[in-house]
Amino acid sequence: MTFTEGCFYNEVVKSNPFYKYSKRGGCPPARGAAMWRHAVKGQAMRPPECPDREGSGHRVRDDMSTVTLKNIKKVYPFVSGEKKKGKRKKNDAPEKKTNLQITNEGVVAVQEFNLEIADKEFIVLVGPSGCGKSTTLRMIAGLEQISGGELYIGDKLMNDVAPKDRNIAMVFQNYALYPHMSVYENMAFSLKLKKEDKAEIDRKVKEAAEILDITSYLDRKPKALSGGQRQRVAIGRAIVRDPQVMLMDEPLSNLDAKLRNQMRAEIIKLRERINTTFIYVTHDQTEAMTLGDRIVIMKDGFIQQIGTPQEVFNHPSNLFVSGFIGTPQMNYFEGRIEKRDGKYVVMVGNIEVTPDEEKQARLAANDVKDQDITVGVRPEHMSMETSGIPATIDVTEMMGSSVHLHVTAMGKDVVLIAPTIGLARNYARGDQIQLSFGGNVVHMFSKEDEKNLEKFD
Ligand SMILES: Nc1ncnc2c1ncn2[C@@H]1O[C@H](COP(=O)(O)OP(=O)(O)OP(=O)(O)O)[C@@H](O)[C@H]1O
Ligand SMILES: [Mg+2]
Repeated sequence: MTFTEGCFYNEVVKSNPFYKYSKRGGCPPARGAAMWRHAVKGQAMRPPECPDREGSGHRVRDDMSTVTLKNIKKVYPFVSGEKKKGKRKKNDAPEKKTNLQITNEGVVAVQEFNLEIADKEFIVLVGPSGCGKSTTLRMIAGLEQISGGELYIGDKLMNDVAPKDRNIAMVFQNYALYPHMSVYENMAFSLKLKKEDKAEIDRKVKEAAEILDITSYLDRKPKALSGGQRQRVAIGRAIVRDPQVMLMDEPLSNLDAKLRNQMRAEIIKLRERINTTFIYVTHDQTEAMTLGDRIVIMKDGFIQQIGTPQEVFNHPSNLFVSGFIGTPQMNYFEGRIEKRDGKYVVMVGNIEVTPDEEKQARLAANDVKDQDITVGVRPEHMSMETSGIPATIDVTEMMGSSVHLHVTAMGKDVVLIAPTIGLARNYARGDQIQLSFGGNVVHMFSKEDEKNLEKFD
């Protein structure tokens, strides 16, 4: 992408205290879209429209790409002959492992979905299979009728607007490229349908190809490309439409592990280069944590928690979120919380810890009573001590910089991550150790409703 020297942007950019970000001058350059956002963040101004925008290809949005979902609901009606809950035949194929609510109208795949997505935000919807991620995305795309609630893109109500008029683009898991068309034709297709000018189509396709590093494959047919290259073409096809909102449904899940990591990094770079709001669906928590500005964790059609990766990792709202986010998974113990002399203490087996001041304050604010609880501790927060919970080593996994110790403690499988440097000795199956953890790392969950007693929503 090239930019005209001396256009209006130069002046605005130079007058900005973050001018150093845009030293190349001209309109915010391709890599500068995200920088520009940072540069103007906090100031009551939006990127001005470049006067020579017409036909110049300056990628400047003058529309706000917020997405608002208000109490969105999706009910899939029973198809005729389908049995209601409890009446399925014995030999029916097992359903996805969810506990979706079933009403007289049908299966409620998504409900009470409330979310405000900011302009240019990267939101990730994550959750186990069947929790309603794709359904939500497809409702935003207009591919699925919304059963209840309101969907806004910008300030326009979109419930009944046709998909083609929503100014969104969607990338699917299975690429869905046209096999008989070249990469170039695949990417140009939607623009041709819109009867855009030929030179303009050419410019947009080549620009997208450059961003995605597929310029040298433009003449090839999809079958002559690797999985990763095909996925890039699919993304390119979406980019050329310069969508207000980019929707991606598990775009990397067909790729092998190495390519996945590579493409994940590509998506992070892409996000820096294109000026769009992203809504990204995955069931992979690592993808969610690395890509999202905010993560929406779903289960059984309900949102469980919305937050930044740090928030959901450090302050999971309930037992489900605590187990879903973080790998290896959080360890759980049977425990008890009691208030003594105005301070809460948590007991697990033979050890007793005092939650830190922050936790104390939150527990007190929620007036937590003495009770049996589930105590969660992440593997990286556990240590081997001279006294603590007795444990027996089952398996040790050498990971390089750390060792994963799988042990049995209090009758449960527990994982502990220890740095390789500083490890007292090589541990073997059957060795006896003692585990401990601090009061600042305990997560306390109600046995009754599995909510975090510190209450994070
Ligand atoms: N057309 C349909 N008719 C009836 N039920 C459907 C339909 N599409 C999806 N469902 C059901 O709605 C629920 C949510 O499906 P959805 O595809 O949104 O899940 P998901 O979170 O995307 O899962 P996955 O990770 O497996 O893609 C599932 O239980 C599914 O069986
Ligand atoms: Mg899905």
